[in-house]
Amino acid sequence: MEIILSPSILAADFAALGEDIKEAEAAGADWLHLDVMDGVFVPNFSFGFPVIKSLRKWTKLIFDVHLMITKPEKYIERFISSGADSITFHAEATEDIAGCIDLIKKHGARAGLAIRPDTPLDVVLPYLPELDMVLCMTVEPGYGGQKYLERVNKKIRALRDIVGEDYLIEIDGGVNAENIKMPIEAGANVIVAGSAAFGEDITKNIKELKRCARL
Ligand code: DX5
Ligand code: ZN
Repeated sequence: MEIILSPSILAADFAALGEDIKEAEAAGADWLHLDVMDGVFVPNFSFGFPVIKSLRKWTKLIFDVHLMITKPEKYIERFISSGADSITFHAEATEDIAGCIDLIKKHGARAGLAIRPDTPLDVVLPYLPELDMVLCMTVEPGYGGQKYLERVNKKIRALRDIVGEDYLIEIDGGVNAENIKMPIEAGANVIVAGSAAFGEDITKNIKELKRCARL
């Protein structure tokens, strides 16, 4: 199974984002994970349209935008026109999951559905045929640098059994070079890493994450 590494810029130097993502790309990052937070769905803020728009000029990497915002339907179109290739929104953040998926597809992006660590799989199952990806959070969304929640492994495994081999299952939160094999063995094939990727030496971090993901 090919593993996609999607480093999250949340832990990067926000005053040097352009250079940092260039370095991540050169080191072998497959996608770029962009965490958008609104201070309502999660108790933290990050960045929005202008940052994504500016970064779009620096790289051709796939922009894997993770919306941690309430009522994502209000903003999906603008995130796509700002440069998102893929939009993943939270099942807990909207009353119209099907409508959000339609909106994303209508504007030509890939659609992902995210669930918090304790949200059951049943919530995503009806939408699997329309979705391009499911994101199982392995920390409570809101902050980088938290500990990987091993209880989510069971859910990843159950989802992989349902969807079969090639479907994209992303996990996000608490991954480092030491534990990256755990979600992969459970069945995840898109791995987000924030602090473990954009720490001191980005090139070294990303090469190490890729190497450990392969072993
Ligand atoms: C958390 C975000 C993550 C975060 C991961 O709410 O969705 O993408 O950046 O950071 P680490 O890898 O440090 O847990
Ligand atoms: Zn994320």
